[in-house]
Amino acid sequence: MTLPRLDGDALHRRLEKLATIGGIDGGGVCRLALSDEDKAGRDQCVAWMRELGLAVSVDPIGNIMGIRKGRRDLPPVTTGSHLDTVRTGGRYDGALGVMAGLEVVAALNRLELDTEWPIAVGAFTNEEGARFAPDMMGSAVQQGQLDLQSCLGTRDASGVSVGEELRRIGYAGEAPWFRASGFLELHIEQGPVLEAEGVTLGAVTGVQGISWTELTLRGVSNHAGTTPIALRHDAGLAAAEIAVGARRIADEIGGGQVATVGSLSLYPNLVNVIAQRAVMTVDLRNIDEALLQQAEARLGLLVDEVAARQGIKAEARGLARFAPVAFDAGVVGMVADLAVEAGASVRRMASGAGHDAQMFAPNCPTGMIFVPSVGGISHNIAEFTAERDIETGADILLRAMLRMAQSGGFP
Ligand code: HGY
Ligand code: MN
Ligand code: MN
Repeated sequence: MTLPRLDGDALHRRLEKLATIGGIDGGGVCRLALSDEDKAGRDQCVAWMRELGLAVSVDPIGNIMGIRKGRRDLPPVTTGSHLDTVRTGGRYDGALGVMAGLEVVAALNRLELDTEWPIAVGAFTNEEGARFAPDMMGSAVQQGQLDLQSCLGTRDASGVSVGEELRRIGYAGEAPWFRASGFLELHIEQGPVLEAEGVTLGAVTGVQGISWTELTLRGVSNHAGTTPIALRHDAGLAAAEIAVGARRIADEIGGGQVATVGSLSLYPNLVNVIAQRAVMTVDLRNIDEALLQQAEARLGLLVDEVAARQGIKAEARGLARFAPVAFDAGVVGMVADLAVEAGASVRRMASGAGHDAQMFAPNCPTGMIFVPSVGGISHNIAEFTAERDIETGADILLRAMLRMAQSGGFP
């Protein structure tokens, strides 16, 4: 059988074109979930799916699935990722997985190659969680890990809900919940490991656990000049102590534990007013569930201790909580074997970032392929992956998808 060949130039052209949708100065991308820019990216993806002859469906949380028929009427062998980005995003995070999936289909179409199993490419709603928490919302609802109604009711900082936005942009679909025979996602590593080791591909073994908490700290607004230190109830100071304490928790637990205060706002946020209120987020992650729970418990004690000492009130609201996920050993092994067969260097590794693939893992054999991020940079407009690495990763995706779609699901 003639093997389908990937058209790397076509893949780069699609990535280039997609990056102009929501493009920002410096070559980055801003397509916040369900925004006008996200809609434009979705519309472009749907148009490409239709050009490739895929049957396109949209489900009630807005996931877009493009399906290529197989000889058998079975759940498709599936790939895909997300089109939404963080506010200061790069052009590869998510987009690479969706565009590479389209190129897999294009390669099969060029040979008019029929596969036993259907093949599907997904573009999942709100993977980033940057506007509506939690992240991986669309794939999690589709795969039964989150409740549809509570996600549709989730509101952004301006009070607009997911459901309202889906209707506004025309992606409140009615398709039944999609199931896959297996799932394989191509994604940039978003970290420093592959580049540091000079390795081209990651055969991803799993995803670390994620815990997002929003803290609202309420103190007493007062004059910055006349209020003696001993009489202050300073929400700004409390927030700063918690941010420093969160990093200390990560340092003391060690290993791969991470802690991030990525969002912090003060009210009234004025130079000469002691902050009455601070709203901040704490992102904790660990591949080990017990250690992640330990970090969460220590954060809770830290907040209580700071609140008592500063005389402020603290409220915590959970924004996201996903346990660590292990991918299917057969899929991980297949990715590694195919990489070696293709003459590419490969290493097994866990993912520091969350991905749509983790929501498929409980339902079907699932894995991921990583390609290097230059400088380990991501969620940053400087995000970059070399064209040859993109092509190598997409080629392994093509080989893997063909193997699964012919042999019937994953090894
Ligand atoms: O937060 C994450 O790990 C992913 O980018 N949603
Ligand atoms: Mn991503
Ligand atoms: Mn991301």
